[in-house]
Amino acid sequence: MTTTTVLPQWETTPDDLPAAIREIKSALRARIAESGRTVDEVFAVVEARVRAAVEEIEAASSRGETVWPVIEYADIEAGRVTAAELEKLRRRGCLVVRGHFPREQALAWDAEIVRYVEDNQFFENYRGPGDDFFGSVGSKPEIYPIYWSAAQMEARQSDRMATVQGFLNSLWRSSSDGVEWFDPSRDSLYPDRIRRRPPGANSAGLGTHLDPGTLDLWMTSAYQQAFRHLFDGTPEEYDPWDAAHRTAGSQYPGSTMCSVFRTFQGWTALSDMDHDQGVLHTVPIPEAMAYLMLRPLLDDVPDDDMCGVTVNQVFPATAQWHSLLLRAVSGIPDVRAGDSVWWHCDMIHGVDPVQDQQGWGNVMYIPAAPWCPRNEAYAESVRAAFESGSSPSDFPAEHYERAWPDRFQVTQLNENGMRGLGLG
Ligand SMILES: [Fe+2]
Repeated sequence: MTTTTVLPQWETTPDDLPAAIREIKSALRARIAESGRTVDEVFAVVEARVRAAVEEIEAASSRGETVWPVIEYADIEAGRVTAAELEKLRRRGCLVVRGHFPREQALAWDAEIVRYVEDNQFFENYRGPGDDFFGSVGSKPEIYPIYWSAAQMEARQSDRMATVQGFLNSLWRSSSDGVEWFDPSRDSLYPDRIRRRPPGANSAGLGTHLDPGTLDLWMTSAYQQAFRHLFDGTPEEYDPWDAAHRTAGSQYPGSTMCSVFRTFQGWTALSDMDHDQGVLHTVPIPEAMAYLMLRPLLDDVPDDDMCGVTVNQVFPATAQWHSLLLRAVSGIPDVRAGDSVWWHCDMIHGVDPVQDQQGWGNVMYIPAAPWCPRNEAYAESVRAAFESGSSPSDFPAEHYERAWPDRFQVTQLNENGMRGLGLG
């Protein structure tokens, strides 16, 4: 009988991070070795797969092809997405939905947001950035910590949003082993902010990173189960589209955390944006997560280092440890107001710098966050924030909208909105 190394677990942030990192790395190495393969051999399997994907993307890009999949909303709604489109979507793990909303609708929402913040003297009262992650330009922010405008809520609870979210959720395996990990047909209306970046803006962009977690990805029992195939030497079995053990476990708190499980991160464009105006880029390879999770176990990484990952900061993807992956960084194509942009929740992404931006760069952040135990728990605090006009608990406690009379009201919720907030 073989003994299996039991992985140490920390359900809350360890007090001594370097010690915990040393301990988990040593246990993971021992556990992988029990498979009969070395850590180097297991990593080589992952690296070969990812390298093939990187080279395929480089080749497509050099042929002038659009790396990002693009699908018309009308095709999603009518169930006309082809097998070839679906295959590319799974392979790349990101998507532009063309015409998700009529362009006039998106432009009207953008104008409504401007009216909403101006009528409520937002700029006069703006106190500066409430967190250390997004900066501001002058006195007017680019990221508006605004959550409860009619425009945002109408988009979140719209049938068109539900249709796309359901389509994207269906790419995942949502039930296995007799457990329904999430309900693909019900979204939890995760409230997030707005970005409005004006013409002429200079922006340093945002470095490549990922958002699903930090050290908890290696250290909590739920994530250890979610990544079990990476940690037991069977990376061939790892499926980036399997939601098992991802929708109920604990997470380490931090200023950049997202409390909910998202199948995809996303935003809806409220202005036209050209591909070279400081837009979103990703490493469009869902399997890259396997590389990111195993890379720290190689011998060239110091024993108390997880390739730079620590708590309270986003998970960085850097040239020092992930140069192979960064070769595949691919930007979105030109988008128009009303298009939406989506990327797998584990995907490396960043925002390009821009000088003297041409045109506006306006988006509403709306992800696909399907109903599951984790999202149901967060929905309770969202409901309270919605009712009082407060900032949701994942975000700095700025609470600009509490006294704004024209924020979206409970009576304006439709069925999607009621279900999303756990009221229906
Ligand atoms: Fe991010």
